[in-house]
This record gives sequence, structure tokens and C-alpha cells, in this order.
Amino acid sequence: MADNIWSRRHIISLEDFTPNDYQTILQTATSFREVLSRRTKKVPALQGQVITNLFFEPSTRTRSSFELAAKRLSADILNFSPGSSSLKKGETILDTAKTYLAMGTNLMVIRHQQAGVPTIIAQEMNRINSGVGILNAGDGQHAHPSQALLDLFTICSTLDPENPNIEQLQGKKVTIVGDILHSRVARSNIWSLTTCGVEVHLVAPPTLLPKHFLDAFKQPSKQAHTATLERNLYIHWQLEPALENADFVMALRLQHERMSEHLLPSLREYHQQFGITRERLRGCKPTVKIMHPGPTNRGVELTSDLMDDPELSLVPKQVTSGIATRMALLYLIGGVQ
Ligand code: NCD
Repeated sequence: MADNIWSRRHIISLEDFTPNDYQTILQTATSFREVLSRRTKKVPALQGQVITNLFFEPSTRTRSSFELAAKRLSADILNFSPGSSSLKKGETILDTAKTYLAMGTNLMVIRHQQAGVPTIIAQEMNRINSGVGILNAGDGQHAHPSQALLDLFTICSTLDPENPNIEQLQGKKVTIVGDILHSRVARSNIWSLTTCGVEVHLVAPPTLLPKHFLDAFKQPSKQAHTATLERNLYIHWQLEPALENADFVMALRLQHERMSEHLLPSLREYHQQFGITRERLRGCKPTVKIMHPGPTNRGVELTSDLMDDPELSLVPKQVTSGIATRMALLYLIGGVQ
């Protein structure tokens, strides 16, 4: 059982999250999942608080999911998008953040194409003692903690629907396949899953998963992670061994917008070697489930029929779980004085 003490004002990355942090998030998300099943799907938890969505990069599900989560908690939500903002007139990102602070913002949800922007805003908010909490909604290739946390909630509630908890994860195998090099989703999932005792197998063509990728996970902020990661993280450049006995297969989008050179011969070739098909799942556990953070290139990362198969695909459940998970995150950091 987690003791529900939460003291993090910001959620920027999962690098130093403990099993207890994950357990607290799962328990809180489970309570909000119950709220979302009621006729009146709203609680007054953050009434009177202002949450600002600062999305400098395009997003469909993450932005809408945070917006709905904030509304279900009765917060007031402001949505910023760069196209129609004063950034066009030369205002800096920090000044934009301070403008929203002056309007009474309590929490900022930030997405930016450059790694490090949420950290810089959080440091500035701390420096001026603003009391504002920052939630990273994806920064460059660095981190996407809320996606990994909703993936964790999805996996745990598949394993134990009544009581999603990290104990269920011991010894489970999760295979992450696709453009791992450019993926902040993969990076955040590696931290959360390995810390919770999952064996994580990464698989991609060598251009999208260079050997030195693992180095990023060998310099953790806490000694305890080193042992866990060395024991639990594997890389492959061939699909079959990576899929063997997998409990969950997480496919990732090919991130064309982050590829500066031609790293793949063609999408067809990629699909032939690394695309997830029904046939290829035969080596997995019989109970295997497929995940994808979206947006998906149908027929590239996985076949269209797998994506739509309600027995196999957790993709819609990931989206639904995202709302309860993000309610939990906003609620937890919103409660830090
Ligand atoms: C991901 C992202 O933006 O990092 N999507 C998401 O948030 N659901 C993955 C992606 O863009 O491929």
C-alpha cells in the first residue's frame, strides 16, 4: 500500500519517481475513474483554481485530455496556442508564462518541441516563489510523463481491473517497438516500467535504436535505478526475440518530423520487418495486448485490423485512462502548498 503523501510540485520527468509515487498515482487515478463512471462526472477538487494549457507544439489527445481532466475537477482552464499569440510579436516564452501567472494561474501544463522548456519555466516559477506547479506534457525527445503514467494505469487496470497496482507488474514483459530514438514516450515508459519491476525489451532498426541509447539510462539520479535498469532493460534489432513471451506490445509512431536524415529505406520495408501483425503475435503470451500512444500510421506500425480488435487492442482504453490519470496528476500537484 502506498502512503498517500505527495510532495512534488512539478512533474517534469519520471527519472526519480519511486514505486510509492507510482502506487499513489494509480490509487488516485482509480478513485477518479470511479467519478467518471458516475452520472455527474465532476468533483469540486480544484474549484477556483486556474489551469493553463501552454501547447507550443501540435496535439490532439494530450491537450484535450488535460482540458477535460481540468474541467472534471472543476478548475477554470485557459488554452494557449502559439499561432494566435503574442509570441508572434516577439514575446519570450517566460514572459508568456508570467502573463498567465499574473492572471492567477495555479498549474501550467506545458508541451514544447524543445527538450528542457518545462524545466526552465519550473525553475523560474520556483525562483519567484510563485507556487505554480508545472506538468510536462511532452518536451522534444526528452520526456512525456503523463503518457507513461496513463500507460501504466492502462496496463495495471488490465492486469487487475478492481485494484490496479504495481505489484501485478513484477516479472511482466513489455516490448516497445518502433522509433525509440526520437520517442519521449519510450523514454518515460522505460523509467516507470523498469522501476516497477517490468522487463522492458526495446526493438527497432539500428538507425532508430543505436547501441549508445542505453547510456541515457545508466546515469540515473539515484543509485537504486542503476541496478533495476541493468537488470530489466534489453535491446534488439530483430522483432521475433523481442516479442517472445511478451505480455504487452507497445508500438510507437515513426516520427518523421524529428528525423533529420533518411533513417529508413521505406515505410513498406519498415512494416515488413517491424510492423506488428496477427501472425507475429503468435510468439507472445496468449493474453498479449497491443498498445500505441497515437497518433498511429495505420498499416505501418501495426495492421489496421489489430488496431480495431477489441480483444487485442488497448488503444481506446489508453485514451480513456488518460483522463482519470491526468485528473490524478492535476489533483496531486494542485494539493502541494
Ligand atoms: C506522442 C507525443 O506527442 O509524444 N503522442 C501523444 O502524446 N499521445 C507520440 C507521438 O507523437 O508519436
